[in-house]
Amino acid sequence: MQTIRELSMLRDTVGGWRAAGERIALVPTMGALHDGHMALVEAARRQATRVVASIFVNPMQFGASEDLARYPRREAADTRMLTAAGVDALWLPDVDTMYPAGFATTIAVSGVSEGLDGAARPGHFDGVATVVAKLFHQVGPDVALFGEKDFQQLAVIRRMAIDLNMDIEIVGVGTQRDDDGLALSSRNIYLAPEERQAAVALPRALGVAAAAIERGGEVAAALAQARTTLTNAGFSIDYVELVDAETLGAPSPARPMRLLGAATLGTTRLIDNIAVAPVEQG
Ligand code: PAF
Repeated sequence: MQTIRELSMLRDTVGGWRAAGERIALVPTMGALHDGHMALVEAARRQATRVVASIFVNPMQFGASEDLARYPRREAADTRMLTAAGVDALWLPDVDTMYPAGFATTIAVSGVSEGLDGAARPGHFDGVATVVAKLFHQVGPDVALFGEKDFQQLAVIRRMAIDLNMDIEIVGVGTQRDDDGLALSSRNIYLAPEERQAAVALPRALGVAAAAIERGGEVAAALAQARTTLTNAGFSIDYVELVDAETLGAPSPARPMRLLGAATLGTTRLIDNIAVAPVEQG
């Protein structure tokens, strides 16, 4: 695997592949890689002949009170994992490349980015959309892969790609989970052992609520039950919400829906989501 830190080198490398008729996939990450990222790489290898992974801990998507300074950085271990997974190039831009002096451009995707994490983390999705647009311009991939764990992020990026006529296929990859169901996340390492045990309440509460809604149960009651379960497990809740799976707006029982939750355990904020199938109309 080639590790690339200069934009000119990235362009030469990818340009050479493109001239040779190769199909290029991009897996954008912030590092601290786990099996969830490796599933993105595997999917990328099925989609393309060359895979570029990027690692950039993007300051623009962290709020002032968030965990930018302590966000895990593990370049050596990440490099080993990506090499073993068959990635062709690792793009490691520095902050000056991503945000040159005088940087003044922001991409804001309205609608899908406004509720849920967009409301809980003001400016977060502007930071995500801006950095992802930059990565797309830098790498010029045919396809880019993102995890469904960040379901709203995926929706924001899909909307941006359509709106800005980016000729890039956006592929969502299913959430990878530990054996007990907790979604893999770079932030799980913040959890103390007793918090790690309690954390499983998040996927379980969402799963129970999703099943109740699919059986035709009352949505408000199912969401209230999920909130109670999370509070009893020690979480402080940002949101537990049922939305339309495509627009992230108000759900309609006749269409695919998504149940999303965000909650903090100690100092660790976790998110998760689950599909909710359309309910048979009787
Ligand atoms: O999901 C992430 O790791 C980040 O939000 C992304 C897409 C790499 C943008 O910084």
